[in-house]
Amino acid sequence: MTAATHRRIAELRAQIARHDYRYYVLDDPEVPDAEYDRLMGELRSLEAQHPEWLVPDSPTQRVSGQVAAEFAEIRHGMPMLSLENAFSDADIEAFDRRIRARLGTEHETLEYCAEPKLDGLAVSLTYCAAKLELAATRGDGATGEDITANIRTIRAVPLQLRCESGQRPAPRLLEARGEVFMPLAGFRRMNAAAAAAGEKLFANPRNAAAGSLRQLDARVTAQRPLAIFFYGVGQWQDGEPPPSQSTLLEQLNAWGLRTCPEIRLVSGVAGCLDYYRAIGARRSELPYQIDGVVYKVNARSEQQALGYVSRAPRWAIAHKFPADEALTVVRDIEFQVGRTGVLTPVARLDPVQVAGVTVSNATLHNMDEVERKDVRRGDTVIVRRAGDVIPEVVRVLPERRAQNARRPHLPATCPVCGARVVRVEGEAAARCTGAFNCAAQRKESLRHFASRRALDIEGLGDKLIEQLVDADLLKTPSDIYALSAATLTALPRMGEKSAANLLAAIEHSKHTSLPRLLNGLGMPGVGESTARALADHFGSLEALQRASEQQILEVADVGPVIAADVRGFLDDERHLRELARLRHFGLKWPEGPATPAKSALHGPLAGLTVVLTGTLEGMTREQAGERLAALGAKVSGSVSKRTRYLVAGSEAGSKLTRARELGVRILDESGLAQLLQGKPPP
Ligand code: IVH
Repeated sequence: MTAATHRRIAELRAQIARHDYRYYVLDDPEVPDAEYDRLMGELRSLEAQHPEWLVPDSPTQRVSGQVAAEFAEIRHGMPMLSLENAFSDADIEAFDRRIRARLGTEHETLEYCAEPKLDGLAVSLTYCAAKLELAATRGDGATGEDITANIRTIRAVPLQLRCESGQRPAPRLLEARGEVFMPLAGFRRMNAAAAAAGEKLFANPRNAAAGSLRQLDARVTAQRPLAIFFYGVGQWQDGEPPPSQSTLLEQLNAWGLRTCPEIRLVSGVAGCLDYYRAIGARRSELPYQIDGVVYKVNARSEQQALGYVSRAPRWAIAHKFPADEALTVVRDIEFQVGRTGVLTPVARLDPVQVAGVTVSNATLHNMDEVERKDVRRGDTVIVRRAGDVIPEVVRVLPERRAQNARRPHLPATCPVCGARVVRVEGEAAARCTGAFNCAAQRKESLRHFASRRALDIEGLGDKLIEQLVDADLLKTPSDIYALSAATLTALPRMGEKSAANLLAAIEHSKHTSLPRLLNGLGMPGVGESTARALADHFGSLEALQRASEQQILEVADVGPVIAADVRGFLDDERHLRELARLRHFGLKWPEGPATPAKSALHGPLAGLTVVLTGTLEGMTREQAGERLAALGAKVSGSVSKRTRYLVAGSEAGSKLTRARELGVRILDESGLAQLLQGKPPP
């Protein structure tokens, strides 16, 4: 009886997985929705009667009921790259020429895989032994955020990779890369419902997808109509990926990882441009938004021969569609003061709709740009908004210029603090010299320090920083740690509860990491990824402080300008005092290599689940567990079919019995020693 129920559960799961595949990957459902719902209902009720047979990859277990406190950081096994952008046919011709010259095949026509450039968010899904273990956002390319719980709610994401008999099995470890997006129909439906409920609307499907993935409560994500297309891979262990982009995509599809149906193999630059025009013409009919086309050299051997430049492959390029543009009038030109004191001219515009969003400000970048474009107050201009980029003024329509249109001038003093403004020789930027004394710089540095990817102080948002700086309660980041409940509750609109929450968040932020601290300090030219590189390289703040400019220059990604700026920053008395004060308030960051081994998915034991039981001779179970985890193994407390090894010391009990029943490989201490050398016994 129970054996029959167990079989039925397995059968239902297999049937549902097959229907998911037919529906989401092949777009060819075999059964009506009602039948699918019936199977799910039956499975749910059997699982309710037999909770001991519940497994995390059951189709009923997509939505976790737990709300996360924050997103953990995940180091990608292989960096997530970006693409070079091209805007014209000539750019693509040059790209193709460049590649053929490098490959020494000037006289041949190259085969490209042409794919829509999906307008969503890049994600990386790690499958270990065909099971979805981890999902991460792109982040800065090297480190992203753990969004596993949210990704699991997307029905088109298989929790387990399909493997038909006779087909290639999934590798031990696979990082599948793709784009999460919100199809237009779902986006419109969702916004209509939000409008009816008087809630805030999302500006576009991309923002809606991003907002949906950034939910700490996966039940919210589960309500959002998200979809995914896969377009590549990161780590692949063991064995080799298929020999071309097109065969790779076929393989991903066969495992149940859906790829975009519009992808085509094309021949040479002419084939690329034909594809671009054809899909451009059908763009408004597609059920999702795309912002261009990606061409990838198809053969993997050629991709490998071409390699990478900085953070992008040489063998691929994004051919963007022209950005949306609109006409409007410049009412004023003002100067904004940024974190490092740079003055940015900003055009205040008559509000205008561009690509579905109301634009009323556009950046003019710097004074060189203002002069080159000759933008004046009162001018009629074309503004452009491309994807997520800040809107910019493309050009002036001189024929519409009014007689009295006034040229802007760089102010001699800072519009915020009144300090002198200087233009650095050889630099386009003009800077306010007020440093810590300038309220604008203070606000921006504090905002940066408290931001999510720096010290991550929840609740210390723009408005509050503004209030605190204006009330002279905050000058430098360390002042944050001197704030008291009495000071906070004295502020308008600040209750006791909010003050307590904020103080708790401030306290929480004291346990930070070196990369976060280095990012938060806002050294010139040091963003998140350089902060991480510095932390990785030096391991401790003291080591970085002792390093010479030359030694800083040895860090990957650091050039002479940044090296000099970092050295200058660290030599500045004011910054030294600030660091000492942060320490004094109890800020702590572990020394040693930057990223904690949160995603130890990348060691020699990656993908292997090990259970430890009984008394070990040489070390405690905890010690063995830590060492195994550091090598990438998943150390579990209970034996299941997924257990690869049971390490049994003396006096092992029920786990040993269970492992024997399930046919799990049992190791003694010499087997453990082998594992610890990174050599899993066969
Ligand atoms: S390939 C090695 N293919 O574009 C190349 N990216 O600028 C890595 N994107 O972060 C990306 N559609 O979010 C690739 N068919 C496609 C894509 C695509 C959209 C996005 C992706 C990536 C960004 C690169």
